[in-house]
Amino acid sequence: MTKAIGLRVGVVGCGYWGSKHIRVLHALESVDSIAAIDPNPDRAIQLARHYPGIESYQDLDAALPYLDAVIIATPPSTHKPLALKAIAAGVHVMVEKPLATSAADARVMIAAAEAKNVVLMVGHTFEFHSAVWQLRQMVQNKELGDLYYLDTARLNLGLYQNDCNVLFDLAPHDVSILNFVLGAKPVSVECWSSRHANSRLEDVGYLRLHYQDPDVTANVHVSWLDPCKVRRVTMVGSQKMVIFNDLATEERIKVHDKGVSEAPTFGQDLTQPPMSYRYGDVVAPYLEMNEPLMVEDQHFTDCVISGMKPLTGGENGLGVVEVLECAQRAATEGRRVSLSELQPIGELL
Ligand SMILES: NC(=O)c1ccc[n+]([C@@H]2O[C@H](COP(=O)([O-])OP(=O)(O)OC[C@H]3O[C@@H](n4cnc5c(N)ncnc54)[C@H](O)[C@@H]3O)[C@@H](O)[C@H]2O)c1
Repeated sequence: MTKAIGLRVGVVGCGYWGSKHIRVLHALESVDSIAAIDPNPDRAIQLARHYPGIESYQDLDAALPYLDAVIIATPPSTHKPLALKAIAAGVHVMVEKPLATSAADARVMIAAAEAKNVVLMVGHTFEFHSAVWQLRQMVQNKELGDLYYLDTARLNLGLYQNDCNVLFDLAPHDVSILNFVLGAKPVSVECWSSRHANSRLEDVGYLRLHYQDPDVTANVHVSWLDPCKVRRVTMVGSQKMVIFNDLATEERIKVHDKGVSEAPTFGQDLTQPPMSYRYGDVVAPYLEMNEPLMVEDQHFTDCVISGMKPLTGGENGLGVVEVLECAQRAATEGRRVSLSELQPIGELL
């Protein structure tokens, strides 16, 4: 049962990312107590050293009677069964990205949460990032002119996962950023992916997302097999171009007042260059400093307490999973896949 304030929150999966949630929850006034839930007893021992007073459990069933809400930060294939267990117990749930490993599973989770009237939120951390809010504002205010294309790169050497390929591990971030910034879902997806160092799971992927409104294409490059760490979003418009470099310590967004257009003599005088270039200022807008994970977890507890709908609710999570599933199918079948192919038959009638 939800209390007016002071929630009892469990973190299911206390590895790399779950331990960050525990640190953040510790700082929130809306949280009374935290339970660490992980079958690996070493995790609980390590966390108890940093956060005395934390309760620990080796499985979710044992913890559920003492919880108002859980954050699920386990490998993606476990998201659906763990979330359904918590929902069945009337406990509010936030699930790390990706919400599920198939659109059908995500729909089951959404329906279960609706039936039990509990919050279902997905941890699309970048939708709580002030730089991404700035990108969205620039697109919505048409500050770049006509949007020509978007491009994202999320590359590094590792971290290889056991449970899913690079598409399901890294691309959820980029797809969530793109859907949020454009305020739309793509209508179709193309994808090329390949396995190199790992014989079972794809470690390099290139996705192309086709949006209809706005009518624009976004290219997404994800890799666990690259010598350089890159976390970049580029948006190119007819008036301006913008780069969000999430690895920069400051000036993470740079707006380039640059443009290119066909020269007036194009096609007539072959001795003249075909294009004319405009070079202007580079501006780094002020960004509010906040930790996106802190904003996200605060929002989750606010939703649990107030009953408000989360900004990244189940439908938002489903939107990203649909793109990932289409990307996987596109890579396997070597063709462009429409999101409408995934809709349940009832919705198409
Ligand atoms: N939002 C982000 O920026 C972000 C960043 C990294 C990871 N993630 C997501 O967080 C999740 C976890 O990733 P990670 O890198 O922390 O993985 P990890 O391997 O470091 O940790 C996973 C933990 O889950 C535990 N676990 C496995 N099955 C369990 C079960 N049934 N019940 C309880 N615990 C269980 C494991 O023992 C392990 O401690 C993934 O969904 C990943 O995509 C999100």
